[in-house]
Amino acid sequence: MRLHRFATPQALARAASRRFVALAREAIAARGVFRVALAGGSTPQALYETLAGAAIDWSSVEFFWSDERFVPASDPHSNEGMARRALLGRVGVRYVFPMVVAATPEACAARYEQLLPEALDLVLLGLGEDGHTASLFPGEPAVREHERKAIAARAPTGVADRITLSAAYMNRARLVWFLVTGAGKAQALARVLAGPEDHDATPAQAVARHAPEVEFFADAAALGALHRA
Ligand code: 6PG
Repeated sequence: MRLHRFATPQALARAASRRFVALAREAIAARGVFRVALAGGSTPQALYETLAGAAIDWSSVEFFWSDERFVPASDPHSNEGMARRALLGRVGVRYVFPMVVAATPEACAARYEQLLPEALDLVLLGLGEDGHTASLFPGEPAVREHERKAIAARAPTGVADRITLSAAYMNRARLVWFLVTGAGKAQALARVLAGPEDHDATPAQAVARHAPEVEFFADAAALGALHRA
């Protein structure tokens, strides 16, 4: 696990964009394709907007999502909608695989599993203040799914119905990035990185502590508690 510290979210977005470009070029040169799962929420938006100006062969990138709220892409809560506004609608993408494609979250998850590759090159994730990641929330059964690649899940707040990649599937990726900014995330980040392991209480640990290659991109505000730990 590697931890990259940044003074500000803007510096984090710039550095993550540079690394993303390098990873994409390397994968496309080696395998002809770069397969990435985009994170939802608000933190990654700055990265996506920065990437919109990057020189990548976007037609060789396959875009998936780590999770999605069960709403249409036009809904302001949609992770797909945010990514399309910030990046996908601004570059020449060719392969985009939205999660909400069927009448129920369970049907969406089942359809998504047919599309997902054996393993992704990169999974982008955020971190909730309660220690969730993707749509793996504390106290919910989703974090313990070991067989399936994608499942329906429930969130305690906001849009309740979700579709999410399972921790087991995310842990098969070549690389997982957590993007974490803001003082509100400090306690959760400290628990993920240094707290007792309890996936029901802090689901992000199920990926952060078990994926073979994990990198954290965090700003000073989110790292505050760790300085005090
Ligand atoms: C979602 C996200 C979720 C997000 C965290 C952090 O659909 O809500 O996938 O896991 O990454 O809640 O959200 P922010 O970046 O908005 O703080």
